[in-house]
Amino acid sequence: MILLKAEDITVGYTEIDILHNVTVTVRSGEIVSVIGPNGAGKSTLLKTVFGILKPRNGNVTLKDEDITGLRPDRIVRKGISYVPQVENVFPSMTIQENMEMGAFIRNDDYSQRLEEVFDLFPVLSERKKQKVGHLSGGQRQMVAMGRALMLDPQVLLLDEPSAGLAPVLVSGIFEKVKEINATGVAMIIVEQNAKEALKMAHHGYVLAMGKNVLDDTGEALLANEEVGRLYLGG
Ligand SMILES: Nc1ncnc2c1ncn2[C@@H]1O[C@H](COP(=O)(O)OP(=O)(O)OP(=O)(O)O)[C@@H](O)[C@H]1O
Ligand SMILES: [Mg+2]
Repeated sequence: MILLKAEDITVGYTEIDILHNVTVTVRSGEIVSVIGPNGAGKSTLLKTVFGILKPRNGNVTLKDEDITGLRPDRIVRKGISYVPQVENVFPSMTIQENMEMGAFIRNDDYSQRLEEVFDLFPVLSERKKQKVGHLSGGQRQMVAMGRALMLDPQVLLLDEPSAGLAPVLVSGIFEKVKEINATGVAMIIVEQNAKEALKMAHHGYVLAMGKNVLDDTGEALLANEEVGRLYLGG
């Protein structure tokens, strides 16, 4: 079943279009990886899905509902959570407080959800009262993901979760991404680490210069000679 569709999206920050008629589809339970060179428009795509940018053309649909142009505070209530590429945690607050910020729109008792999120990230669970600014890059990224999961989203948008991490930590973050997906959360993940992102993807999209270049199963894109040469470094 199609869960989320961004269809025929044209959008920009000024009068200049950055994305040109881009379409990305996410089915229930899928990891969809979006790869492409710097400046391709990957972050712009996620910002548009999350309502930070309003598309000039095209539609964003969640299940059967048109959510195009809704503001982020409405989108998040529809079940889409977003982890931005930068500044995705509150460094002066503790781990626990960051998680509580993630739950800020919940009026119900979220203590069980908090436990589930800490179960997913035991390393954070041991340090609940520590300020996030003192954590390592990998742990901060886990805080950012945990915060986004507090609302129990249907879809998680992850912008470059492995960026800036030491190679030894990258695989740990991707393991967490897979664990989150195994709990039934669909996701769009944008990654520089394209090979790894395609390995775990059910479906992958290649963007370049603001346009769809190619999409296929992760496996097929990995096996594609041209994708390998142009986007996976040989
Ligand atoms: N806030 C902004 N205002 C104006 N132009 C922007 C803004 N953010 C991004 N752009 C431009 O939009 C284009 C696409 O940027 P975007 O950040 O979506 O690319 P990306 O694929 O995420 O790249 P990267 O791999 O470097 O993160 C670039 O040309 C960039 O300069
Ligand atoms: Mg980006």
